[in-house]
Amino acid sequence: MCGIVGYIGKREAAPLILESLRKLEYRGYDSAGIAVINEGRVSVRRCEGKLKNLETLLDRDPMIGSIGIGHTRWATHGRPSETNAHPHRAGDVVVVHNGIIENYLDLKEQLTQRGTKFSSETDTEIVAHLVAEKVERRMDFLEAVRKSLREIHGSYALLFLNQRDPKRLIVAKNSTPIVVGWGDGEAFIASDIPALLDYTRKVTFLEDGEVGEVSVDSFRLYNGNGKSIQRPFKEITWDAVAARKGGYRHFMLKEIHEQPRAVADTFRGRISLKDGEVSLEDIHLTANQVKQIKRVHLVACGTAWHACLVGKFMLEEIAHIPAEVDYGSEFRYRSPLMDPRSVLLMVSQSGETADTLAAVEIARQKKAKVLSICNVVDSSIPRKSDGVLYTHAGPEISVASTKAFTTQLTALYLLAIALGRRNGNLSRPQAKKLLGDLMHLSHWMEEALKLESEVESLARDLTHSPDFLYLGRGINYPIALEGALKLKEISYIHAEGYPAGEMKHGPIALIDETMPVVVLLPRDRYFQKTLGNLKEVESRGGKIMILTDEEKLPSDIPSFGVLTVPKASHFLTPMVLSVPLQLMAYYIAVHRGTDVDQPRNLAKSVTVE
Ligand code: F6R
Repeated sequence: MCGIVGYIGKREAAPLILESLRKLEYRGYDSAGIAVINEGRVSVRRCEGKLKNLETLLDRDPMIGSIGIGHTRWATHGRPSETNAHPHRAGDVVVVHNGIIENYLDLKEQLTQRGTKFSSETDTEIVAHLVAEKVERRMDFLEAVRKSLREIHGSYALLFLNQRDPKRLIVAKNSTPIVVGWGDGEAFIASDIPALLDYTRKVTFLEDGEVGEVSVDSFRLYNGNGKSIQRPFKEITWDAVAARKGGYRHFMLKEIHEQPRAVADTFRGRISLKDGEVSLEDIHLTANQVKQIKRVHLVACGTAWHACLVGKFMLEEIAHIPAEVDYGSEFRYRSPLMDPRSVLLMVSQSGETADTLAAVEIARQKKAKVLSICNVVDSSIPRKSDGVLYTHAGPEISVASTKAFTTQLTALYLLAIALGRRNGNLSRPQAKKLLGDLMHLSHWMEEALKLESEVESLARDLTHSPDFLYLGRGINYPIALEGALKLKEISYIHAEGYPAGEMKHGPIALIDETMPVVVLLPRDRYFQKTLGNLKEVESRGGKIMILTDEEKLPSDIPSFGVLTVPKASHFLTPMVLSVPLQLMAYYIAVHRGTDVDQPRNLAKSVTVE
C-alpha cells in the first residue's frame, strides 16, 4: 500500500506534490520520490526513509516544472532503498505504482532477453520498460500504456509521465484505488482523497480496468476495451481528518474493512492454482532442506501469538510438521530443544518486537534456520532472518491489530502448503484444493463484513457488561483468544478466551446472568461438542452470543444473539470468524467512548523487553 500523487497545471508541481504526499504518508513511509518535466526533460529525485529526507533533498536541489508525479512507498518487492524508490524511469517514461504485478518475474525474463537492464529489484520497473519500449518505437503514449497493461496481471494504480509527450499524464487502475481531482485549469491525481482536499473537492474515481488521459483542460476516460466513458465528477464533503481515515470514524474500522484486499495481496503473485504450488522464493528453502525439518518453533507476542496458534494447526495438519508455539517473552528464558533441523518462525506485524526478536539468538546458538512472517519490510526481524514471508497488509495504524492478524494467518496457510508440497506430505490435488479455497477468502470476509449493523446493535446491548467469556475449539480456539484480546485492549472490559471443552475446569464458576459468553460454533468436527458446552452455559444463566456458519441451528439453542458468517473451508474459517469479533470489540469500545485507535497504556510497536 503506497501513496501516489500527480499534478498538471500552472503551479510549480514539486512543492504541491510533496505537500500532497505528506497527506498520504500513512500509506507508506520507507522511501519517496518525485519526477517533474521541465522544458521537455524529466528529472527524478528519490530517497530512502521518510518524506522529510525528500524535502531536504528538494531544498538543496529544487525541481522546476508544472507537470509531475510523486510516490511514498511501502515496500513489497525489493527492500526500502533509493534505487527501489519510485518513480521508476525507463527511457522517456517515468512511472509510480501502488499494487503488485503478479507476473513480474516472467515479464522481467522476457525483457532481459530483449536486452533490458534493470536498476531496481521492484516489480514496478518492469512496467516502465514495457511502456518505454513502445514509446521508443513511436507508439502513441496512451496506446503504449494500454498495450502494456494487457501484458500485466495483478493489482495496480499506475501514473505515467512521458518526456516526449509532456502535456498529459496517463493513469490506470485495477484493484487499487486512484482518484482524479479537478481544479481551474489544473488536475490532481492521488491514491486517496486526503491528498487532494487542499486543492479541490471535485473528483472522479477510476474503476477497475479503466485508463485515463489527464491534461490541463481535459480528461478522457476509457474502459478496458478502449471505449470512451463519460463520468460526472463527485463532490467530496468529508473534512481532512475523516478523509485520512477513508471516511471511516477510526483507523481500526478502516483496517477491518481493508482485510478482503489485504489477504488477497498477501497471496497474490505467490501461488499457481494450475500446478498447486506456492512460491518459496522469499523463504530460500530447497525441497531437501524442507524434508529435513524436524520441528517448527513459532514465536510471537500478543495477536501474532494467536496467529501462531492457528499456524500450528496448519503446519501439523497440512505439512505434517510438528510445531510448538511460544510467547517471545517465555521462549527467550527457557531452554528449547533445537538443533540444525529445527526452524524458528517469528511472526510479527512491526518486525521490531523485542521479545520476539530475542528468539534469534537462541536459534543461532542451536544452528537452527531462522524464518519470519512480517508486515514491515526490512524491519529488524526480517533483517535477522534467513528468509521472510511478507504479509502485504499495508501500514497498520490502529494499535489494535486486525488486518495484520488475518494476513499473518494467510501467510501461515501459504507456508504450510508450500512446506507440505516440498516434503511430500501434501499431494498436488490436495494443494490445488487448498489454494482454490483461498480464491474465495476475500468474498467470505466481505460477506462477514456485512454483519456490521447487526454486530453494532448487539454491541450496544452488551456495552455495560463487566466481563466476557469467549469459547472456541480446535483451529478456532485461538480466535476466541483473539476476540477476547481485542475487547480487552480497546474497551478495557475484562475478557477471557478459553477452549470450550476446558470451561468446566474452572471458568464455569464465573458464569451468571450478567456474563456474556461468545461461542464460536462453526459446523466443524467439534460442532456437537460445542453445543454441549453451550448447554452448560445456558444452565448457569449466561448470556449466550453465537457466532456460526450454520444457517439452521437446532431450534432449542438459547441465545441472546446469533451472527451467521458464510461457510468457509476448514483452514480459512479463522479469518472469516475474526471479522465479526473485531467489529464486536470495535463497537463496544465506541459505545463506551474509549480512544479506539490509541488505547491507554498500549504502543503499536514494543521495542523494549
Ligand atoms: C494486539 C496487538 C499486540 C501485538 C503484539 C506483537 O492487537 O497489536 O498484541 O500483536 O504487540 O506485535 P508485533 O506483531 O508487531 O510483533
